[in-house]
Amino acid sequence: MNKKVDVSPIRYFNDTIRLLGEGGLLLVSGNEKKANVMTIGWGLPGRLWAKPFFLVAVRPSRYTFQFIEDTGSFTVNVPTGDMKEILNYCGTVSGREHDKFKEKGLTLLPGRKVSSPVIAECAVHYECKVAFKTKVVPVSLPSEVLSTFYPRGDYHTLYFGEVLACYADEDAENKL
Ligand SMILES: Cc1cc2nc3c(=O)[nH]c(=O)nc-3n(C[C@H](O)[C@H](O)[C@H](O)COP(=O)(O)O)c2cc1C
Repeated sequence: MNKKVDVSPIRYFNDTIRLLGEGGLLLVSGNEKKANVMTIGWGLPGRLWAKPFFLVAVRPSRYTFQFIEDTGSFTVNVPTGDMKEILNYCGTVSGREHDKFKEKGLTLLPGRKVSSPVIAECAVHYECKVAFKTKVVPVSLPSEVLSTFYPRGDYHTLYFGEVLACYADEDAENKL
């Protein structure tokens, strides 16, 4: 098992933002008994209210949605370069029908600060507590965004997660 060392939440921001657009990241929510994973391609690591934050956008139709609602927490896991097929899988099948962790050989480690676990095989981890959430409000969106991304509604909920812990493999920079 790789040794995970605490890092500043901004240490891997650039790689994290780049990878959002190159296959995505793995969002996990749940607890030690039951958790789920899905791929995210949209998200904003940054600073808000004088604290490090990670904003994620999750549609209510996702199985993951209720896990975040129930636990008030999630983790964002930055995959290594050889996990592209796993990203595709976790972004196309649902935890309602599949145990994605088992099927893809992903190992869960308990969260250090939140109930949601992290994925050991990933290189960088952000543990987040939901500090604020809001549903995307259709009236305030440009019409092309509405027609392109919300033809059937299913408006994302934006979860503003305060980053309570951030850690990474010692050699994470060689793996991203
Ligand atoms: C590259 C990629 C990025 C995605 N980004 C998001 C996202 O940011 N938000 C979202 O709600 N769904 C996103 N999805 C779709 C979910 O990952 C997908 O619907 C998944 O199967 C949901 O799993 P679940 O039902 O187990 O929660 C993305 C899918 C892919 C392949």
